[in-house]
Amino acid sequence: MPVLGVNIDHVATLREARKTYEPDPICAAALAELGGADGITIHLREDRRHIQERDLRILGQTVATRLNLELACDQEILQIACEVLPDQATLVPERREEITTEGGLDVLGNRGVVQRAIQRLKHAGITVSLFLAPDLEQIEVAAEVGAQAVELHTGQYALAKGDDQRRHLDTLVEAGLRIRQLGMALHAGHGLNYQNVVPVARMADMHELNIGHSIMARAILVGMERAVREMKQLIG
Ligand code: PXP
Repeated sequence: MPVLGVNIDHVATLREARKTYEPDPICAAALAELGGADGITIHLREDRRHIQERDLRILGQTVATRLNLELACDQEILQIACEVLPDQATLVPERREEITTEGGLDVLGNRGVVQRAIQRLKHAGITVSLFLAPDLEQIEVAAEVGAQAVELHTGQYALAKGDDQRRHLDTLVEAGLRIRQLGMALHAGHGLNYQNVVPVARMADMHELNIGHSIMARAILVGMERAVREMKQLIG
């Protein structure tokens, strides 16, 4: 059964909408863990639009499971990561104008920058995952630059329907096999919800799913613990 990393960025987005102190992502993380989350995922963006440095630093001390920090290859954020020492860092592309992370990291086109970021994080004792589209060329380079895991971008699969969705699933499965052959751990995330998660959770050797939007949307209606518990039941 894959482990579930619950992305709580949206809790901080809601707080930042009013620039106030509530809802607090620290409380949300504790409730998600009570609901069965195996890890907490947050993205400290360069523009600090949701998660703040304060959140990361406190979560670094309070998360009882595993803390996965999503970050761009940015020197300031890399420095903060090396101070806080999350259990895992997931390198993602970042553009200020995007609504959410769009597309995977272009490790092929930014090999040197990504390799240096991986070395710095690994040197600090942090496990490094790369968020990649299911593209075999990118996956080969991920292994060459020393990534320990690849999180496959499931966004296109999640948006597709019917046969088209099955084709995207086949692409994910093929990419997943290559990731495992190259000795990296297999993760997936983006756009996964209560309707589309099961085939991805059943992929061979799927180790970790990172899910945010759908769980937060459900939590607003039914409460955090129940929303996380229901997702855990589905992926198991
Ligand atoms: N994985 C990565 C690398 C992401 O950037 C995000 C979005 O923050 C997610 C997973 C979660 O995506 P969603 O919110 O669509 O579940």
